[in-house]
Amino acid sequence: MFENNSINLELLKKRAYNLRWATFPSDVIPLTAADPDFPSAPEIAESISVFTKDRYFCYGPPEGLPDFKESMANYYQKKRNVPVSPAFTFPVDSAAFGIFLTCKAFLLPGEEAIIFDPVDFLFRYSIESVGAVAIPFAIPPGTSKVNFEQMETLITNKTKLICLCNPLNPTGKVFTKDELIQLGTIACKHNLIILSDEIWSDIVFYPNVFTSIAAIDQEIRNRTITITGFSKSYGLAGLRIGAVMAHNQNHFLKLIDASLHNSTIHGANVLSQVAATTALTKCDYWLSDFLKHLTSMRTLLVNELNTIPGFSCVAPEGCYVAFTNITATNKSSQEIQEFLLKEAKVAVVPGLKKWFGDGADGYIRMSFATSDQILNEAIHRIKSVIK
Ligand SMILES: Cc1ncc(COP(=O)(O)O)c(C=O)c1O
Repeated sequence: MFENNSINLELLKKRAYNLRWATFPSDVIPLTAADPDFPSAPEIAESISVFTKDRYFCYGPPEGLPDFKESMANYYQKKRNVPVSPAFTFPVDSAAFGIFLTCKAFLLPGEEAIIFDPVDFLFRYSIESVGAVAIPFAIPPGTSKVNFEQMETLITNKTKLICLCNPLNPTGKVFTKDELIQLGTIACKHNLIILSDEIWSDIVFYPNVFTSIAAIDQEIRNRTITITGFSKSYGLAGLRIGAVMAHNQNHFLKLIDASLHNSTIHGANVLSQVAATTALTKCDYWLSDFLKHLTSMRTLLVNELNTIPGFSCVAPEGCYVAFTNITATNKSSQEIQEFLLKEAKVAVVPGLKKWFGDGADGYIRMSFATSDQILNEAIHRIKSVIK
């Protein structure tokens, strides 16, 4: 399933946007946006096809199809040990929208939200889109134990939200239960909402263990909004589907109101909900094979990156991205990105503020959700130009 010949490059070159195959000349290998090169599980396409055969594409319920809500809640109850209620769970058209929605529901203009630095740009973007202010808390790549007491010093009377990204894109950190208890206790002490983005929670490499912050205790859970998605684990990015799980009715009502689902201005596509339900209920085998494949790609890429002069990479604990320090090349991450694109025909994401915050300076990010042949070719090209 995860062989080189499983990958259809011709289709990817037509369909894979967001800085990937369709957006570069055909001789470039894009290790850019984290979107797998492999086709999704066959059961997913089959379920969409069965649904479409009936030719009814009616409006769905604004709060989501019952099957979706139940499967999502079930998944979290069984796999994450969180007592999620289907009634407080609803589909959104992406994890990205879930982040934005939580900011819209819980932040007023001028209020503050803490984000990690570096972290995916979506957090800062969403906070600023609602007129609030993002306050970065540095978690340098390779940090093994975060001291959240330092984060507490950033809290003011304007702080309303802490954005937890676990596992953390782009550094691949997976937060331990102790770290999450510390973060949760601070949130309780200062009466803050925790936005917990867990879109990467299936992509965790042994022996690291994922803990959902809402699993810790009721007090922490009660102030948490859990967000997840299907782009990373199941390769469904183009279906634009994610889920928001509130843990009390008040939060659920605030979120559903802010979503505009009730007015039909927004809403999650019914076919995408069918696909996501199938992913949650029938594709465990696919996900575990995918994770096995990613584990060997991680070893391959990280080992090779560490043989390149000037490059240094700590193996990610989770996420299928390698975040490499390139400061010893005496070039900036933008210069390395441009050099690799021009000379090696390999596209990477530079550690610029606009993608990950100031803390990404001196790093480049590469996705390894591809075949060993493509990855080996990319590594070979990079090694041949960085001497
Ligand atoms: C941490 C994080 N959250 C959210 C997303 C966006 O996911 P979606 O495609 O569901 O919007 C990404 C995508 O890279 C991500 O890394």
